[in-house]
Amino acid sequence: MSRIWNFSAGPAALPEEVLRQAQEELLDWRGAGCSVMEMSHRGKEFMSILEQAEADLRELMGIPEQYKVLFLQGGATQQFAQIPMNLLAGRSADYIVTGSWSKKAFKEAQRIGNVRCAATTEASNFTRLPFANEIQLDPFAAYLHVCTNETIHGVEIPAQRIADTGVPLVADMSSHILSRPVNVEKFGLIYAGAQKNIGPSGLTLVIVHRDLLGMAPLTIPTVMDYAVMAENGSMLNTPPTYAIYIAGLVFQWLKRQGGLEGMAAVNDEKARILYECIDQSGGFYTNPVDPDCRSAMNVPFVLANAELDAAFLAESKAAGLLSLKGHKSVGGMRASIYNAVPLAGVQALVDFMNDFAKRNG
Ligand SMILES: Cc1ncc(COP(=O)(O)O)c(C=O)c1O
Repeated sequence: MSRIWNFSAGPAALPEEVLRQAQEELLDWRGAGCSVMEMSHRGKEFMSILEQAEADLRELMGIPEQYKVLFLQGGATQQFAQIPMNLLAGRSADYIVTGSWSKKAFKEAQRIGNVRCAATTEASNFTRLPFANEIQLDPFAAYLHVCTNETIHGVEIPAQRIADTGVPLVADMSSHILSRPVNVEKFGLIYAGAQKNIGPSGLTLVIVHRDLLGMAPLTIPTVMDYAVMAENGSMLNTPPTYAIYIAGLVFQWLKRQGGLEGMAAVNDEKARILYECIDQSGGFYTNPVDPDCRSAMNVPFVLANAELDAAFLAESKAAGLLSLKGHKSVGGMRASIYNAVPLAGVQALVDFMNDFAKRNG
């Protein structure tokens, strides 16, 4: 068996320890006589898995009691629609567009109701955050939507830039949730598809302040109503049980890494060495994002000579570095260095990049 360093944007690397534990428990979960995949979601075994996962997540993120944690399905993409369905309540909402994902969220919300673009950095190719004087907020908005880490463009909103605007803040944290501590109380709703820093695809996390529950019109499908899901403990219908189980193992692994503070220290060092390699390559590699908002999770970069792209990809793969091809909309390369990619993996990438630049520069 040979596992290689995996820089996939998602579904992405999972901690090896978690995979090994899942393997050990696959056939017989802790004496239950069956796999987690085969047990009733309403039985006491699975209920204990769900409760433990929620308790560990609350502890890791410091989620206050007035927030509900929902384990949903449909991906972050479903949330693009479910959020306006639940929160608009006949009003308008504001969207700040800083990359492909917030642009998609804004576009989808337009199908549901009245939404405004409060700022966009598209004219700058999504390489920076909007300046304060470019943001036009509606003080009566039902909510303000942001994507705190743009997975494709590699733009991350630093925590200190998250200001209170007087309206509930809704954040797509899909690609950097759990990568560092976050002050949950600044947000009305946080959501994330699981397949980057949480666990396997098929699970979507929603953390929502209880004041935002119960606003949905009765015309929306029951399964889309946050309040109904909250009342039913995410079990109105069958939840994605195996994905929740793996997420629970990831939460316990995170606690063993020193929680989100411990994770942030490693993530900062990983990002530092990779950006340093790019910036010190004499223009061989470049990352176009404003240094104030470079993502510590998704690092896009281009080679000055695009004719070398194919060789870079083939040789990196041969060197045991997987999934470095950039998103088709921006081209070049992208290294996603989520929690489960250790410093040694990023060091291996940096060593390869330095060597490749030396040989081809
Ligand atoms: C920031 C962000 N939002 C939303 C999505 C869409 O997620 P899903 O595929 O779970 O619907 C992604 C997927 O990569 C993402 O990175």
